[in-house]
Amino acid sequence: MQGCALLQQQNLMSQLFSPFPLRGLTLRNRTVVAPMCQYSARHGVANDWHLVHLGRFAIGGFGLVILEATGVTPEGRISYGDLGLWTDEQIPPLRRIVDFLHQEGAAAGIQLAHAGRKASTPIPWRNGFDETEAEKAEVAFEAWTPVAPSALIHADKPGFTAPTALDEAGISALIAAFADAARRAEAAGFDVVEIHAAHGYLLNQFLSPLANVRTDRYGGSRENRMRLVLEVTEAVRAAWPADKPLFVRISAVDGSDGGWTLEDSIVLAGSSSPAASMRSTARRGLRWLRPEGRAALPGAARQGRPQQRGADHRRRPHR
Ligand SMILES: Cc1cc2nc3c(=O)[nH]c(=O)nc-3n(C[C@H](O)[C@H](O)[C@H](O)COP(=O)(O)O)c2cc1C
Repeated sequence: MQGCALLQQQNLMSQLFSPFPLRGLTLRNRTVVAPMCQYSARHGVANDWHLVHLGRFAIGGFGLVILEATGVTPEGRISYGDLGLWTDEQIPPLRRIVDFLHQEGAAAGIQLAHAGRKASTPIPWRNGFDETEAEKAEVAFEAWTPVAPSALIHADKPGFTAPTALDEAGISALIAAFADAARRAEAAGFDVVEIHAAHGYLLNQFLSPLANVRTDRYGGSRENRMRLVLEVTEAVRAAWPADKPLFVRISAVDGSDGGWTLEDSIVLAGSSSPAASMRSTARRGLRWLRPEGRAALPGAARQGRPQQRGADHRRRPHR
């Protein structure tokens, strides 16, 4: 039995380290570094920290390295320290990182994101917004009022601000911002774009009836709540080269009563019925839907379920 298990394991290992084709891209193996916020950018611009943080994974042999949640607008950042891709000035430092990853044999991905009502939160290893005036200049401190599907605060606890609800013009601008960021990602040389629709951030908020109580065509029925994710996917796919893979990351369930369910995720993925698949992410040229875990919605937290990002963030020492 032991020998058999060993053989199976060896077979799995050889698959793990075998090339993986995705549209026009072939990863050197199937290991992927998931996006990880570093809270270390100024004005959304990448720097040496990001180069070293990401570069070591390429040196270590990963097939694909995905950059952290990167704001498609300034107000879409989780914190003022997030990466951004809302202006052309943010392209060259990213190009430097992409070139290094390529030089070391890894493919480069970037996660395009909008935090919605979970934007403008403090840097996790600080004690709230405790920056002194001198530090504020040094770290390019910013705080702002977030936008969301509905004017519902994420959680009544320090760190979250009551958002304003997006109007239709704001939603159109947001879709355009995702597409523009994808064009900039192409200019920076990325191989993969991932749309962040997970973890209770803006696109997840639109999906969830717990965060989205709109009465227009972006709220109410499941079809209406899915509309923005599908429109963003369609716009990004149109802006992103056809031979390059596009991923969407979702949280498969909200983990709270009355929230987004696994069945909803299956419908979103387009595998439930021909009618649903007409409006599905798959029909929109999506290469890979990455379902995982629960969204970090307040109800989920109250039930004692693990938040996606938590203790690990706070462990990082102040730099
Ligand atoms: C420090 C840190 C930052 C993270 N930032 C992001 C992020 O920017 N985007 C995202 O989708 N997930 C983020 N995550 C979640 C990770 O991508 C990943 O899903 C999680 O760490 C679980 O990884 P595992 O399944 O390999 O254990 C972050 C996690 C950590 C620990």
